[in-house]
Amino acid sequence: TANGLAKTPPMGWNSWNKFGCNINEKIVRDVADAMVRSGMRDAGYRYVVIDDCWHGVRDADGFITADPVKFPSGIKALADYVHSRGLKFGIYSDAGRKTCGGRPGSQGHEFQDALTYARWGVDYLKYDWCNTGTRNAEEAYALMSDALRSTGRDIVFSLCEWGNNQPWLWGAKIGNLWRISGDITDKWEGKYGHSWGMLNILDMAEPLWPYAGPGHWNDPDMLEVGNGGMTDAQYRSHFSLWALMAAPLIAGNDIANMDEATRAILLNREVIAINQDLLGIQGRRVWRDGNREVWVKPLSGGGRAVILFNRGDAPETIAVDWDALGYPPGLKARIRDLWQHRDLKPVAGRFSATVPAHGVVMVKVQP
Ligand code: DGJ
Repeated sequence: TANGLAKTPPMGWNSWNKFGCNINEKIVRDVADAMVRSGMRDAGYRYVVIDDCWHGVRDADGFITADPVKFPSGIKALADYVHSRGLKFGIYSDAGRKTCGGRPGSQGHEFQDALTYARWGVDYLKYDWCNTGTRNAEEAYALMSDALRSTGRDIVFSLCEWGNNQPWLWGAKIGNLWRISGDITDKWEGKYGHSWGMLNILDMAEPLWPYAGPGHWNDPDMLEVGNGGMTDAQYRSHFSLWALMAAPLIAGNDIANMDEATRAILLNREVIAINQDLLGIQGRRVWRDGNREVWVKPLSGGGRAVILFNRGDAPETIAVDWDALGYPPGLKARIRDLWQHRDLKPVAGRFSATVPAHGVVMVKVQP
């Protein structure tokens, strides 16, 4: 991407999945504190992003203001606070005249809004697609991309047009990540109005693997880990698969009040390292048979991240053959279990394991 940012998938937190429109400056400050205290910042989660509904009205000159009830101290003060915690600050707008939540959108105010964000110290913009009428998506996103660039500030640009206009074909020159689907919801699978369960989004994102790379990522939407609608095993699958797909790892839970299981998932540094691998290749499914699947991500240094994934309701034995990894059958490799955090017996030819229902076994294979 022309802005040179997001060489690895962006990591952080966004307010939407947990809080929706019910946000305020205290929630955001508490999240920033919790990101430091929990170790999330030091594990790589950098961006604290406020989604929809922070906006007030435009002033007499057309400049956007913050909702005076929810954000009485203003956005600049909040950005300063987030920065003081060693984090980066993100915000949300929309390419239409109104956001999905009915707040003022950026259409017709692109350069003015970009300038305002830069003055406030914004480091990341998520740009939504509600109320855009007949606008051309590529043009609308290119216009805001130019506006952000003209400020001279480094601002990661997140495209959120839900995959309607195949943004993977044109998004890389305009932004750093693009949503590939409608919204995720905190369920294992299924369609819920305009939202999708985790597995549905996974299957929409998988075929798009060739379009991802350093600076430009497919975005299968934010994490639901810790929001309560899935089991811990399902959340481990969600997190592992998002990491392997080189997806942005944007937590969407109440991290100021998360339980130990949630913390252990979001703070799995070995899985995060797979996501942040510098080659920046999106992993993909290389084998499936019914509910049993094998997913692989090539890593710098010649290793492979491998997920044995069981969609079924009972435990399954799943194996990966070396030819699916691009290795000769006699090649001996070390096996590191990324959830048990221990080295397994080195093997050649294939690796096999028993995988719990709705769960994963995730390993790093290193010849
Ligand atoms: C639709 C987006 O896809 C969501 O992620 C969220 O930003 C909402 N709009 C906010 O209204």
